[in-house]
Amino acid sequence: MRIHDTIAGLRSTLDALRADGARIAFVPTMGNLHEGHASLMREAARRADVVVTSVFVNRLQFGPGEDFDRYPRTMDADCARMREAGVAHVFAPDEAELYPQAQTLQVVPDPALAGLLEGAFRPGFFTGVATVVTKLFNIVQPHVAVFGKKDYQQLMVIRQLVQQLALPIDIVAGETLRAEDGLALSSRNGYLSPDERSRAVQLHQALSAARDALRAGNRDFTGIEQAATAFLEAHGWFPQYIAVRRQADLQSPAAHESSLVILAAALLGSTRLIDNLEV
Ligand code: PAF
Repeated sequence: MRIHDTIAGLRSTLDALRADGARIAFVPTMGNLHEGHASLMREAARRADVVVTSVFVNRLQFGPGEDFDRYPRTMDADCARMREAGVAHVFAPDEAELYPQAQTLQVVPDPALAGLLEGAFRPGFFTGVATVVTKLFNIVQPHVAVFGKKDYQQLMVIRQLVQQLALPIDIVAGETLRAEDGLALSSRNGYLSPDERSRAVQLHQALSAARDALRAGNRDFTGIEQAATAFLEAHGWFPQYIAVRRQADLQSPAAHESSLVILAAALLGSTRLIDNLEV
């Protein structure tokens, strides 16, 4: 596995691979990798000859007061995980390499999608994501890129970006990996105290109960959202949103619609967790 810290170095390596006909798969990350990331990398390896990852904590997608400074930088452990998952090339630039000038040109996703849910609570988040991902796509020029369903709305924003900008990249969705108790794997789980960690599964429990209600034919979406919110509040959480939406566009569904997803964001102590379940 080779680690590249310059755009020029990575480009010349990948140009040579492409000239030899290699199919390239890309998994962008911010590091602090867990098994969920490794499963995206293994998915990438199944779909291409060469897996490229990036490790870059992207300041642009963090709001003021968010965890940019304390976001864990764990490159040694990350490298071991990436090697094991079959990654051939890691792009790990510093900020001066990726943003040599202030990144004043930004990619602003459609607010009809990016202004909802996560976008409403984290203004500028999806612009930061879309900007760095577009830049990384231009640098890596992969044939396929893998994004986790854990960040459901992000995956949709990226799909729309690729479609509307006609980027020749297949976007593949990786399933969410869960701990044994059901908690979705996330880098931010590392912020939880032992007591919070034992309660963190309640987010998945709230979503599971909502999914069961939908599967049983309950179409009172507002009632389902309120029940999940009340459950979490009763256990000391601060829910930001719990929303039953259409998988196609994350808009509120009509009662007869199927292919739904329940998405949630909630604070447990000072840690903000997100999760979702498709129905
Ligand atoms: O999902 C993430 O880790 C980040 O949002 C991404 C896609 C690597 C962009 O910084």
